Amino acid sequence: MAPLGYFFLLCALEQALGSYPIWWSLAIGPQYSSLATQPILCASIPGLVPKQLRFCRNYVEIMPSVAEGVKISIQECQHQFRGRRWNCTTVNGSLAIFGPVLDKATRESAFVHAIASAGVAFAVTRSCAEGAAAICGCSNRHQGSPGEGWKWGGCSEDIEFGGMVSREFADARENRPDARSAMNRHNNEAGRQAIAGQARLKCKCHGLSGSCEVKTCWRAQPDFRAVGDALKDKYDSASEMAVERHREARGWVETLRPRHARFKAPTERDLVYFDASPDFCEPDARTGSFGTRGRACNASSAGIDGCDLLCCGRGHDARTERRRDKCRCVFHWCCYVSCQECPRLYDVHTCK
Ligand SMILES: *[C@@H]1O[C@H](CO)[C@@H](O)[C@H](O)[C@H]1NC(C)=O
Ligand SMILES: *[C@@H]1O[C@H](CO)[C@@H](O)[C@H](O)[C@H]1NC(C)=O
Ligand SMILES: *[C@@H]1O[C@H](CO)[C@@H](O)[C@H](O)[C@H]1NC(C)=O
Repeated sequence: MAPLGYFFLLCALEQALGSYPIWWSLAIGPQYSSLATQPILCASIPGLVPKQLRFCRNYVEIMPSVAEGVKISIQECQHQFRGRRWNCTTVNGSLAIFGPVLDKATRESAFVHAIASAGVAFAVTRSCAEGAAAICGCSNRHQGSPGEGWKWGGCSEDIEFGGMVSREFADARENRPDARSAMNRHNNEAGRQAIAGQARLKCKCHGLSGSCEVKTCWRAQPDFRAVGDALKDKYDSASEMAVERHREARGWVETLRPRHARFKAPTERDLVYFDASPDFCEPDARTGSFGTRGRACNASSAGIDGCDLLCCGRGHDARTERRRDKCRCVFHWCCYVSCQECPRLYDVHTCK
């Protein structure tokens, strides 16, 4: 009996600490977000595995951008899911900042891992190009020869460097032989691919009064909004997987294969999951659902943000709210705009 109890205790510990990327709480610790105000104490960052701790100590100047990356990914997640039943709420006062909703291997977990890993890659790359750290900067891998009428110039963002940091840091704990780790690894990479796949050239004209006699171009990351949009599409089309166990020399290893043979296998850009999502209609501490009671819904939408679907068929309340909007704006030479405030009535619908 004792070994079995011990086994369950270990599982519970693993459940509580091991599988949750607690380092994401970097995003809400104000003490980590600015290197300028305070030195970062790596040992005081909760939830770092040894590899991450080593990374933090060796590259402490990168850590503010890692924290920034998690922060922008939470903002983007909340933007992408703003009208949905699960709206990417973070919980205060817990190191598991998304709550238990990420315990299951759902589409939501897939999205959060992908966007967080993309956020870290993005923010690190950006801050390197801005000259924030000594060990990185602009990319000198100017891929390919210049095209007709332009030459390489300016600072090409080093997307490979940001991707490498994200691979080191965000994937550091995903080396377990279980299915969830395989899923997280896959989705983390899909997040980074969403950046690399949308990198583009930005150009600037030089010459008399913008004549574009000389044009210089550099490689730039997409806006992070475009990364969020792409990953949201991947969420909608995520691939459901089945878990397979194999006996290998190092022991049991779980791998994923597509659950439905008639669908094409996911590429490395696709998101994968293997647990069904809860419907998020009612509050449930176990699944991390907050329910949708009191949520604002859109009475004229037939989509998921519409009152029917968002309120799960419970119906909704309607009221009018008076708000003050900017209006009658006047442009003054030169250069500012002054506005008045006008009261306006809004119809507000909230879920019962
Ligand atoms: C939640 O966290 C924010 C930012 O860290 C803080 O300003 C706020 O007071 C917290 N709210 C509660 C209810 O703890
Ligand atoms: C997200 O959902 C939570 C819980 O239902 C709610 O408190 C919060 O206001 C929602 N956020 C937005 C932006 O709708
Ligand atoms: C509500 O839904 C309609 C129809 O989809 C859309 O045109 C409108 O912009 C939505 N309103 C808000 C506030 O999102």
